[in-house]
Amino acid sequence: MSSPKSEVAGEAERRRTFAIISHPDAGKTTLTEKFLLYGGALGKEAGAVKARSGGRAATSDWMEMEQQRGISITSAALQFAYRDKVVNLLDTPGHRDFSEDTYRVLAAADAAVMVLDAAKGIEPQTLKLFEVCREREIPFMTLINKWDRPGKGALELLDEIEETLIVEPTPATWPVGYAGDFRGIINRTTGGYTKFERTARGSTIAPETDMSADEAAATEGEHWEVASEESELLSELGRNPNIETFRACESTPVFFGSALTNFGIRFLLDGVIDMVPSPDARVLANGDTRPVDDPFAGLVFKVQAGMDRAHRDRIAFVRVCSGKFERGMLATAGRTGRQFSTKYAQTLFGQDRETVDEAFPGDILGLVNANDVQVGDAVWVGKEADWPELPAFAPEYFMRARVLDTSKFKQFRKGLAQLDEEGAIQVLRDADLGDQAPILAAVGQLQFEVATHRLETEFGAPVELTPTPYTIARRTNAESTKQLRAMQGVEVMTRANGTHLALFESRYWMERVLADHPELTLERMVAEGGLG
Ligand code: G4P
Repeated sequence: MSSPKSEVAGEAERRRTFAIISHPDAGKTTLTEKFLLYGGALGKEAGAVKARSGGRAATSDWMEMEQQRGISITSAALQFAYRDKVVNLLDTPGHRDFSEDTYRVLAAADAAVMVLDAAKGIEPQTLKLFEVCREREIPFMTLINKWDRPGKGALELLDEIEETLIVEPTPATWPVGYAGDFRGIINRTTGGYTKFERTARGSTIAPETDMSADEAAATEGEHWEVASEESELLSELGRNPNIETFRACESTPVFFGSALTNFGIRFLLDGVIDMVPSPDARVLANGDTRPVDDPFAGLVFKVQAGMDRAHRDRIAFVRVCSGKFERGMLATAGRTGRQFSTKYAQTLFGQDRETVDEAFPGDILGLVNANDVQVGDAVWVGKEADWPELPAFAPEYFMRARVLDTSKFKQFRKGLAQLDEEGAIQVLRDADLGDQAPILAAVGQLQFEVATHRLETEFGAPVELTPTPYTIARRTNAESTKQLRAMQGVEVMTRANGTHLALFESRYWMERVLADHPELTLERMVAEGGLG
């Protein structure tokens, strides 16, 4: 006899926790806004999220740097209800605020929605984020966005997905009308047709008319014929959405739409609800799993520290993995084993913080002053948890750091160690020079701004950064290091954890070195891009 489902297991089953991944300008912000519109979280009008994307109306007073530059580095997740489910939409910072945090957010997601611009297909940043999904075995759905504008052909885009990502695209919807003349959508599961009408810039839910195939044929004529033939062809090829292959990361359900005009967006949101897995048992560092109805345990996927000069405010963003979180619980920080109070737990809706009293698997919490935790750590109650280590991501920007005031060298050193340990930036040292001239390595420029700001304000060590010629890093070992040191155009540096990184001026040069010396160890890191 099966026992009745626990409250926690029941709540976990209602959760859908996912992130949107895209190249800048593909429409992530617009889509987020429209999801909220459909989720009823914005009332009837969209617009709250948009304000931030333009950088014109950053509402946070949290951090002076944010205000000065109109960037948002502090948001974490949006929660809204849709149908009978609770949706947690994780924020993956993009544009100018791209950083390692963008990648790490995916560690907290159960799935991703990849947004492609119909005119551009797969772009470099999408590819890098996709690579992180693949490494972490996160299933993803695809939205081909901007179908209201001229773009590539629908079948051509499917080929591009298949060839570039080596995953089978399985359209859940099919557009009627080519890119630029978007009329409506075939729901390939039901065979029905939904015709759309435009609203002014899509600020309200798009009026839809459902039609039978016969009605659609009469209304859309040739457009309908072309689309329904293509859709049948796809069925003959077995290209129908399949929940098992999606969850196994072998296929990606594809949706066509226009986030701007809301066309097709409801289908995507319904697809998220129907196909994204609810939070499930998580694998621990020792290979065991922790079921969702075990006592509370969470994964720290982002730490926001030292941003408020007056308060030294430090927030750990935690994804609940098991159990029910109740504010005020005494939790244990995995790394140190120290206990801390969770009295100041918060949720974040965009930039607004609100106290949270309870949370369930899949939900995101902000724990204020959880000073002992680092990115990747577990926090737990009652039963110890330890998660597998998060990967180191391939840095692409390399700057040499020098303390401006040599009397502050000690502070500089301490700050570097702290930032490196937190995962705010990667600190690379030369074996002989140590902290005299370290190289700071990052995946986005913002990480340098955060690092210099914090070194100065939090540690009292103003620094000067100077560019280096390097653009690509590969992981190497002690043996290859000896050989690489003797070569031109490559520098080998070491991280505090003992990892050796070989830095090259160009991919071309790196590939040439590897071709001439196949015996060298030069390993790609996650999200190097190019999928080479
Ligand atoms: P991002 O977060 O991925 O960077 O993209 P964002 O949503 O900010 O969208 C980038 C631009 O693309 C915006 O235009 C937005 O209005 C437009 N866009 C998004 N979805 C669609 C779509 O489905 N169709 C069309 N035609 N455009 C779309 P912008 O001119 O940069 O900003 P704005 O002046 O419109 O605010």
